[in-house]
Amino acid sequence: MIELVPANYFAPLDLSEIFGRTAPVELDVGCGDGAYLIALAEAQPERDFLGLEKLYGRTQVACRKAMRRGSTNVRILRVESSYALRYLLPPQSVARIHLLFPDPWPKKRHQRRRIVKDEFLRDVQIALEPGGIFHVATDDADYFQEITRASERSAGFVVANPCEIGPLPPTTFEKHFRKTGAKIYRLLLRKVSPARNGSA
Ligand SMILES: C[S@@+](CC[C@H](N)C(=O)[O-])C[C@H]1O[C@@H](n2cnc3c(N)ncnc32)[C@H](O)[C@@H]1O
Repeated sequence: MIELVPANYFAPLDLSEIFGRTAPVELDVGCGDGAYLIALAEAQPERDFLGLEKLYGRTQVACRKAMRRGSTNVRILRVESSYALRYLLPPQSVARIHLLFPDPWPKKRHQRRRIVKDEFLRDVQIALEPGGIFHVATDDADYFQEITRASERSAGFVVANPCEIGPLPPTTFEKHFRKTGAKIYRLLLRKVSPARNGSA
């Protein structure tokens, strides 16, 4: 089954059991219609891909798409992604986390709803394997600045080179933004162990 319905929402997921093998796992947070997730999964059959999406309709679209394509290394979980990162993903279990075009909440009074906050980055850091990659893109310059500042406050990341993860397929929202000529801001962060005793 492409749609993942955990038997227990209060215990960490067993990713090897879910995918039927032990392989590097990538997470697409807010995977929407699943187009990016499925394209990545087809390009990298040796890795496993888990999409997190809170909207029922979008998870169904993504599951149908993955089923039509015969994807064996894709699962989709309808869940609030902050909850999943904190409670469902075992620590150091994920090789890469993609957060692409998160809802920007551009109005000042709505900005506290933005998903990237210090706690979110801490949870991302915990879920990532050592050396794991956090990949974020947005068309919203203000949000991008906020994400960059939050990542600079975190001792757990360094900026990574985009060639570390190779060519990436466009997401559905990215295709739309590119058509409108919007600028796309992208940041790749690599997890590092925080320095101890002041040494790097
Ligand atoms: C702007 S869309 C981008 C979708 C996709 N990443 C893309 O680039 O085409 C943001 C997606 O994130 C989902 N989303 C927003 N907040 C979420 C949350 N807290 N947990 C899970 N999904 C979330 C939305 O339902 C929506 O599908």
